[in-house]
Amino acid sequence: MRVAGKVAIVTGANVGIGAAVAKVLAEEGAAVVITGRRKDLLDHVVADIERKKGRALAVAGSVTDEAHVRSVVDQCLRAFGALNILVNNAGIGAFGKLLHEIDEATWHDVLDVNLTGVFRMTRASVPTMLKNGGGSIINISSVGGVIGFSGSAAYGTSKGGLELFTKCVAMDYAQNGIRCNSVCPGLIDTPMAAPLLNNPEMKAEVLAAYPIRRVGTPEEVAKMVLYLASDEASWVTGSSFMIDGGLTAH
Ligand SMILES: NC(=O)c1ccc[n+]([C@@H]2O[C@H](COP(=O)([O-])OP(=O)(O)OC[C@H]3O[C@@H](n4cnc5c(N)ncnc54)[C@H](OP(=O)(O)O)[C@@H]3O)[C@@H](O)[C@H]2O)c1
Repeated sequence: MRVAGKVAIVTGANVGIGAAVAKVLAEEGAAVVITGRRKDLLDHVVADIERKKGRALAVAGSVTDEAHVRSVVDQCLRAFGALNILVNNAGIGAFGKLLHEIDEATWHDVLDVNLTGVFRMTRASVPTMLKNGGGSIINISSVGGVIGFSGSAAYGTSKGGLELFTKCVAMDYAQNGIRCNSVCPGLIDTPMAAPLLNNPEMKAEVLAAYPIRRVGTPEEVAKMVLYLASDEASWVTGSSFMIDGGLTAH
């Protein structure tokens, strides 16, 4: 059990990468608080975890809502008495439009969820981690936060901001036992990627750029998050971890 006795919050954990992260952390001994807007889907994930004798609590809401964010941390402390791991996973995509075609509402929405949402959740969590004597914060970024893709200006900017946010938070708390790292997935088989994956021509074109010619799985990303969440990563902070089938290696 690699995170036995620890307590984690995973945002956006009712489907996709977040759900896989929550399940892996629970299997490895953590109690998990999972968030997202769709309560019915959160309840399925809680049921899956409890079926395997894990501990989980669903708190429905949006990372764009400060009151929800505060309540997630409060409910986490009330239910499980601590907070050791924060996985900022909630995110939305916005792809396929050139910069001059992006409307202002989309630009703001993407930044509000993918970047400001992480700021809110992290700001609400840090005081408890400071009291605990430490913690591990893992931000789910993207290859799109490290290299440029056409049709991705709002999303790429949000994830690029997240990359520097990660390093700044790591510097703020390096002396306090709080580590902060980012994970940068390439194309992963989740609902977010479904429009692309369901289009055979687009899928083939995108996969041609991946040295390992397949899509990644949410479980593969979850294993990397597990490492960063665990004490095995005790000297790792302020770093970005690519998990992309080799995409950014060339
Ligand atoms: N799939 C990929 O290829 C890929 C690649 C690189 C990076 N990523 C990143 O990985 C993370 C997870 O992506 P995914 O592929 O698993 O996406 P997904 O399948 O679309 O799931 C997104 C999750 O975020 C939640 N969410 C969205 N807006 C939210 C909000 N305002 N407040 C709280 N939760 C919210 C969703 O739940 P509700 O809709 O119910 O709120 C859902 O649980 C994202 O940050 C994404 O940018 C994904």
